[in-house]
Amino acid sequence: MDGYELSKKMKENSYCPYSNFRVGACVEFEDGSLVGGCNVENASYGLTICAERIAICNAISLGKDLKRATNLYIATDSDILTPPCGACLQVMVEFFDDINVILVGTKTHKAFKLSELLLNKFSKDNL
Ligand code: THU
Repeated sequence: MDGYELSKKMKENSYCPYSNFRVGACVEFEDGSLVGGCNVENASYGLTICAERIAICNAISLGKDLKRATNLYIATDSDILTPPCGACLQVMVEFFDDINVILVGTKTHKAFKLSELLLNKFSKDNL
């Protein structure tokens, strides 16, 4: 299974009774290994966690070195490509170097550099 396939498959596990918007994400590493995640919503809407952040936390929990990540895939059931929200971009720049972020829709996909999606990052270097 490749990153496209796993990100699509992770959508099946999405817990999204409020938005009905399924999102799957997958981090791919230099060695080809993959770690996935899906969005998890809550009746207290603000506690919702996006698929990207779940995938990142899963990878950390598994002991992965996120500096060896090469690609992050984000899949939805929409033909409009879904970029990561600001909160997820901030979490991504905490852990990743300038990886490829690949938006996967039903009909097309498109790759961006993380630095294109978050041009000026706030990081430990600012502190
Ligand atoms: N969502 C994600 O999981 N990732 C994104 O990049 C955008 C939004 C989720 C959060 C919520 O469960 C649903 O999509 C609608 O906002």
